[in-house]
Amino acid sequence: MTKVRATIDCQKTKSQILKITADGSHTLFVPSLNEHYHSVFGALQESMHVFINTGYREVSKKREKINLLEIGFGTGLNALLTILNKNEKEITYWAIEAYPLDESLISKLNYPEITNNSLDKEIFSQLHNANWNQITEIIQGFYLYKIDSEIQSLNLPENHFHLVYFDAFAPEIQPELWTETIFLKIFQSLIPGGILVTYSSKGIVKQNLRQAGFLVERLKGAYGKRHILKAEKPIII
Ligand SMILES: C[S@@+](CC[C@H](N)C(=O)[O-])C[C@H]1O[C@@H](n2cnc3c(N)ncnc32)[C@H](O)[C@@H]1O
Repeated sequence: MTKVRATIDCQKTKSQILKITADGSHTLFVPSLNEHYHSVFGALQESMHVFINTGYREVSKKREKINLLEIGFGTGLNALLTILNKNEKEITYWAIEAYPLDESLISKLNYPEITNNSLDKEIFSQLHNANWNQITEIIQGFYLYKIDSEIQSLNLPENHFHLVYFDAFAPEIQPELWTETIFLKIFQSLIPGGILVTYSSKGIVKQNLRQAGFLVERLKGAYGKRHILKAEKPIII
């Protein structure tokens, strides 16, 4: 796979500022990109709506074992929420992150406090303390595989994942990640019937997902946002 040069500069993601969003949960703001990690209308409610309620709950209705891929591990909020909503399922969670956050910032994030479960602090620390590029069992039946790489240069297994959380910076900031090429790579890594969920519903995103082969559905957005997208790899009979 040829390495595509990212248009954002690694140094630019380095100085993040902690901010409180409308539901009381933190997000990070990157001044040099003028971009937040989550919706300012509520980081927690957005992640619950897009990734857990639209993605995880649907896939977990049909499967006992779930191979999940996240593009952009960042604060680990989606991974934490997936664990908290895991139920009895077995999950192998691949988390791709090009610019891992500093420990000093991670320790200030308030996610474990606001999810109201005394175990969450321990779980959240384990998610971040797990070694990169090796599989770690965080709790029983939840295997985390963090990979510190750009998605552009990574080879993914074919027909492997059941669910993808696509949580890169917005298409205006990182157009190189919302392309037909990247979506095709993800399409090939999904099993037929597997789904990708994302918070952006921009026209170009829909178009590139369709070009890659996905069936694309526009759904109601999280509070404060109009729409999100769910894209399915069709089952060919
Ligand atoms: C919108 S933030 C969301 C992060 C995370 N899901 C969260 O809830 O905190 C986008 C994330 O994608 C990461 N990222 C940026 N470029 C990337 C790339 N080329 N490959 C993988 N991850 C990338 C960023 O560093 C950042 O952590």
